[in-house]
Amino acid sequence: MFRNIKVGIILLFGISLNIFGQNQRAVYLDDSKPMNERIEDALSRMTVQEKVAMCHAQSKFSSAGVPRLGIPDLWTTDGPHGIRPEVLWDEWSQAGWTNDSCIAFPALTCLAASWNKDMALLYGKSIGEEARYRNKNVLLGPGVNIYRSPLNGRNFEYMGEDPYLSSKMVVPYIKGVQENGVAACVKHFALNNQETDRNGVNVNVDDRTLYEIYLPAFKAAIQEGDAWSIMGSYNLYKGQHCCHNQYLLKDILRDEWGFKGAVIADWGGVSNTREAIFNGLDIEFGTWTDGLKKGTSNAYENYYLAKPYLDMIGKGEVGTKELDEKVRHILRLAFHTTMNKNKPFGSFGTQEHALAGRQIAEEGIVLLKNTNNVLPIDLKKTKRIAVIGENAIKMMTVGGGSSSLKAKYEISPLDGIKKRVGAQTEVVYARGYVGDPGGSYNGVVTGQDLSDKRSADELLAEACAVAKTADYVIFVGGLNKSDYQDCEGVDRVSLNLPYNQDKLISELTKINKKLVVVNISSNAVAMPWVTKVPAIVQGWYLGTESGNALAAVLMGDVNPSGKLPFSFPVKLEDNAAYTMGEFSGKNHQVSYNEGIFLGYRWHDKQNIKPLFSFGHGLSYTTFEYGKVTADKKEIISSDKITFTVNVKNTGKREGSEIVQLYISDLQSSVPRPVKELKGFDKISLNSGETKTVSFTVDSSALSFFDTGKHAWVAEPGDFEAIIGASSTDIKTKTGFKLK
Ligand code: GLC
Repeated sequence: MFRNIKVGIILLFGISLNIFGQNQRAVYLDDSKPMNERIEDALSRMTVQEKVAMCHAQSKFSSAGVPRLGIPDLWTTDGPHGIRPEVLWDEWSQAGWTNDSCIAFPALTCLAASWNKDMALLYGKSIGEEARYRNKNVLLGPGVNIYRSPLNGRNFEYMGEDPYLSSKMVVPYIKGVQENGVAACVKHFALNNQETDRNGVNVNVDDRTLYEIYLPAFKAAIQEGDAWSIMGSYNLYKGQHCCHNQYLLKDILRDEWGFKGAVIADWGGVSNTREAIFNGLDIEFGTWTDGLKKGTSNAYENYYLAKPYLDMIGKGEVGTKELDEKVRHILRLAFHTTMNKNKPFGSFGTQEHALAGRQIAEEGIVLLKNTNNVLPIDLKKTKRIAVIGENAIKMMTVGGGSSSLKAKYEISPLDGIKKRVGAQTEVVYARGYVGDPGGSYNGVVTGQDLSDKRSADELLAEACAVAKTADYVIFVGGLNKSDYQDCEGVDRVSLNLPYNQDKLISELTKINKKLVVVNISSNAVAMPWVTKVPAIVQGWYLGTESGNALAAVLMGDVNPSGKLPFSFPVKLEDNAAYTMGEFSGKNHQVSYNEGIFLGYRWHDKQNIKPLFSFGHGLSYTTFEYGKVTADKKEIISSDKITFTVNVKNTGKREGSEIVQLYISDLQSSVPRPVKELKGFDKISLNSGETKTVSFTVDSSALSFFDTGKHAWVAEPGDFEAIIGASSTDIKTKTGFKLK
């Protein structure tokens, strides 16, 4: 009897073990298990060949998973403003798909100009849904390289000149993207502040400038945004390419910031197997080489982290410790994305995303000047509007390099204005000038025929003629993301507007007093006609809903609330990098001699009056600031201090105001900027309404980076909290002491 029971128990145990055994999923596939356990389990099952295969591209935009273990391939996509159309497996050329026309969102400078973190979240969520729907696992963006010079071709993909503004705006964008189970890949890490000689220039910058200006937005992206991946940049720092740079990728990214995600090389940014192994790179993309020279095929097995790596392991020249580290980072990325069973399904090309883009555009457009309230246009008193300029009709969702898109549609400024004014007002158009009549960008054919045989004089004459007979003239010009005009790979050659636009604008000022100039660009431009033009609007590359957003602001449906994320110098000599003699450098060397004094920090230091200041932007209403007060007169370094100020809408219509907090260290042992942005809040006020804005900061807002201590230090002494409507429009300030 007893024996039977014993046999029964053993049998029962055996069966249950077996069932349990069958049901017990491999740990790496069991998302109830801790991430680290899943990573170690997957790693333990992989061969060296499978591990090496994971560390380099297998096609233009994908890298291998582990087919045998059911770990999917990893698909990346450009770019920060929308999901790039599909390209061929092995080439940049268009794949010719018919289901990949996306919603194009405004350029990131426009998002930065909104100073609205909610817009950054909306942006990330929307573009993340588009990426998710297209089954892309890594979005190659956002870009947060600091705006050092208005000549940098890629400033339009970044968030301006101030590390604090960029840091605050990049975090919600990343959160929004990643809530879709799509990894953000913050780029280009680091010091990629020019396009000239971008693959070869070595950036010389002191530590304090690196930590105070060029790293903060990346640090925020990693530590606050929890970015799951980051892209190394092409340039060099301390003589090593940033895609395999021990200082940036190991000492700072891993050791100081605790990054656990994957480091992805910029396309073609890897040039050395041993450095790629030991200096912190995880995945090599875009190396166009047959292993010996620039080849005609991508020859993925000849990538630096492919066969050459495998051979070095096989010969015992290197171990597999670094390889396992790389694969751990890539598996973590996989568990967040390709193997994340809880990710939503996304959506693509939707009206919801188009309206999100429009809202961001409307919040980012900046009213730079509005003498005599020329704007908004009162359609009841306006019989005819003349729209002049190529940028009123030219598609802008294309061009600019890798961020170029195939948009589902794009409303041009002219179309938007025509649609908005309806039958009550006549809209006439004149080209004014011919800029870039091209019609194909990265293989995306716009279908626009912008060819025009007329001479510049004929175009000018026609523009002047239509301007004469109109109640309003809206000139839409600027740059256009063609070469040298806000484009990857080539910096601008001048601060001036191209295509002789200055002459045309000056002529128009003589003909019509109600002239509005809309500058479509993502870089500062010189405005020699600034005193003669009554109304100036900074319109960015606004994406799919460009024309509707612009028309809404010009006609007053929307009260503009954007403020500049970078300074407009009057002339190039007023720019720090230019004046300090080192924009784009020579002989593959560039030195950031201006140090921390760039943008408004430079203008404050040198008493230079900018054309338009960092943080400047007008409204169709007016605001009045009260006196700022502090809840303490002195603090110790562990304290927080709160500054409070009332803001009233003293105009006739609702409007939003971006209240800015700058901190000034009145006595310091090292040179410090006159003031630095350490807080901002965008508030919406009805006519007559008052709101109380408060900023609570701790000693980190008072600190500078002490390179001797390699730490942030707040020195005791006197400080000032400065409240401004821009970096030069100071409303009120109050002193306080750090004991
Ligand atoms: C480009 C860009 C990078 C882009 C990548 C893939 O050269 O520098 O921003 O994501 O290659 O197109």
